[in-house]
Amino acid sequence: MTHSASISPHTPVLINEVIDFLAPRPAGIYCDATVGFGGHARAILEASAPDGRVIGIDRDPDALAATREALRDYGDRVTLVHAPFSRIGAVLAESVGPVDGCLVDLGVSSAQLDRPDRGFSFSHSGPLDMRMDQTQGETAAEFIARVDEDELGAVLRDFGEERFAGRIARTIVEARQHEDLSSTGALAALVARAVPRREPHKNPATRTFQALRIAVNGELAELEHFLTDAPGCLRPGGRMVVIAFHSLEDRMVKHRLRALAAGGLSSGAAAIRVLTKRVVIATDEERAANPRSRSAKLRAAERLAS
Ligand SMILES: C[S@@+](CC[C@H](N)C(=O)[O-])C[C@H]1O[C@@H](n2cnc3c(N)ncnc32)[C@H](O)[C@@H]1O
Repeated sequence: MTHSASISPHTPVLINEVIDFLAPRPAGIYCDATVGFGGHARAILEASAPDGRVIGIDRDPDALAATREALRDYGDRVTLVHAPFSRIGAVLAESVGPVDGCLVDLGVSSAQLDRPDRGFSFSHSGPLDMRMDQTQGETAAEFIARVDEDELGAVLRDFGEERFAGRIARTIVEARQHEDLSSTGALAALVARAVPRREPHKNPATRTFQALRIAVNGELAELEHFLTDAPGCLRPGGRMVVIAFHSLEDRMVKHRLRALAAGGLSSGAAAIRVLTKRVVIATDEERAANPRSRSAKLRAAERLAS
């Protein structure tokens, strides 16, 4: 069976592959830990009809409000929770207990990227915010106004894999004394000035924006917590699926799943087996239809009985 997304501000990636790995069934309980605009959640609800349930987590209240409306027809089969997915253990313990499957589809949605007021994109000028949860935490503008040059350089290098990290950090720290860097446009223009050589077909600010987003949202720490706690949230035979969009995240997923499967993390960790011998990527057809899918990398694992 193939699944198509309904009209939505975000097209879910690898949707057939997600459903194949999760294999939702009636009466099953599934956690979509990045429910976003509900595209994957809807497919899970359809595949687990008539009474499968989805606990949807997202740290973005705007996404949850839109999804509450979009999934209204599924009634009490859907529970939405405003939380970071690092809290998956507590969220599930307080609601449904162990689940039959769990999905995390990392990063930001097209809807978040496309809204200038969210400040994620150098393509739209807006406030340099970048928080997935705008109810708390430091904005990207506040972050670059406060960090010292070394810390900023390390963030750009480690999270953006930016070869001109030191040069960009120095330029930002010098410019912030006399220039207003509180908009996406101002930062993108400054980075373009700082970078001596451009990568073809890539905005010179791409890596800087990725790095700042990861830093502002604590994305790697979030993923680390999730990968530690999610296996223990599954019932025996329950499956987890992780979709990553850049190599830093995918490397972390690959190594963490391998270590868990080898029993090498801690004696108390839930035992799993990795289901994806090789990383799963989008088909040519999907890549052509949805450019976002081109960088998607899926890995899956199953909790063992003991
Ligand atoms: C790629 S979108 C998910 C789209 C979703 N699968 C769909 O079909 O609409 C990622 C979503 O995860 C959320 N998110 C990212 N990191 C998160 C975290 N650490 N905790 C909770 N939500 C997070 C974002 O706010 C965003 O809505």
